[in-house]
Amino acid sequence: MRLSVNNTQFNLAALADTLLNPQLSFDQRCSALDDFAAHCAAVTGITPDRTFSAWAEDSVLTSGVAINPAAAAFCIKDYQRTLQFIAGIQAALCALDQRLPARPIRVLYAGCGPFATLLLPLLSQWSEGRLDCHLLDIHAQSLHSVQALVADCQLEAINLSYHCADACHWSSAERFDLVIAETLQKALEQEPQWAVTANLSRLLKPQGIFIPEQITLNLWAAHWDQEQRYSQRQDPADLPALVDEFERHFLHCAVQLRADTVSLQRPIADPQALVAQVVDLGQFSVADSIPAHRFDLIVATTLHIYADIHLHEYDCDLTRSYKFYDWSPLAPGQSFRVYYELGPYPRVRIDRLDRG
Ligand SMILES: C[S@@+](CC[C@H](N)C(=O)[O-])C[C@H]1O[C@@H](n2cnc3c(N)ncnc32)[C@H](O)[C@@H]1O
Repeated sequence: MRLSVNNTQFNLAALADTLLNPQLSFDQRCSALDDFAAHCAAVTGITPDRTFSAWAEDSVLTSGVAINPAAAAFCIKDYQRTLQFIAGIQAALCALDQRLPARPIRVLYAGCGPFATLLLPLLSQWSEGRLDCHLLDIHAQSLHSVQALVADCQLEAINLSYHCADACHWSSAERFDLVIAETLQKALEQEPQWAVTANLSRLLKPQGIFIPEQITLNLWAAHWDQEQRYSQRQDPADLPALVDEFERHFLHCAVQLRADTVSLQRPIADPQALVAQVVDLGQFSVADSIPAHRFDLIVATTLHIYADIHLHEYDCDLTRSYKFYDWSPLAPGQSFRVYYELGPYPRVRIDRLDRG
């Protein structure tokens, strides 16, 4: 049963219906997101902005960069990302609704940003008391902004709590049925998703759901020029054809980041220990059969959000490839060590093993 929302200013229920309707075109759903973003900006005074030049307003934390509220607001414009996350979160809530009929579903949304974009539209879909939502961000301005939107959308009947804290270190006596964390960029670079996942995985109830369920980083020998053309055309269907034609070669699966294994495979009891920790991601060699000098070394990102909902290569900004300039073009027979460096600027690092 839905919450009855008497909102004359913005129809959140209609927005959710549009975003969750796969019969509507991509353009129709993007336009609904644009309308929502414009409304949020009018209510909160925070205008979505890439703010490439506003580095000073980002927060450099011990475990990565927390982008500033205007840049976080701009994430809504990474449309396919936003639509797939919202669809995945609604699917997870529906699964938990079946599983837990007798008590409220406890939800933690870490890194909610100023518009709580991935959850706010869905709140209209759930009846009063069904959800117990906790919104967390390092930026107080973002939490004030979400509070203003909640008041504007007349959602006060929903149980909402706000936490201004670092998700890499925050803890709670209570566990959560659903944890949502989108504090990442392509190749798990710069933002603290790894440390956030390691910390918040401890707060998940048994059988709880963590979104995204898995982030995968694969290393490929590929043609960077061609990759960029795909990126502009957004035509990932051609990528398997490149593999079939031996114009893209799989080298190594470097990362499969999941909440249910992050702390088991790589024990991290004390979140403080995340700072400057290095995680071994294995080794690989370039097979002699590959004409390596024709290829660049790239890392590709894919996201499994929930159930059958994915973000494939080049679906969105988060799943663009990244080129390792130091090791491009490759050379036949080279061997490499791969590792993930946690700290204020987390990223995948690659070292040659066979320097002679
Ligand atoms: C990429 S934005 C995503 C915003 C929003 N969730 C969305 O999907 O549109 C990341 C957000 O996470 C917040 N953030 C990043 N690292 C954080 C941390 N360690 N603790 C708390 N918030 C963090 C940033 O302040 C920012 O609001």
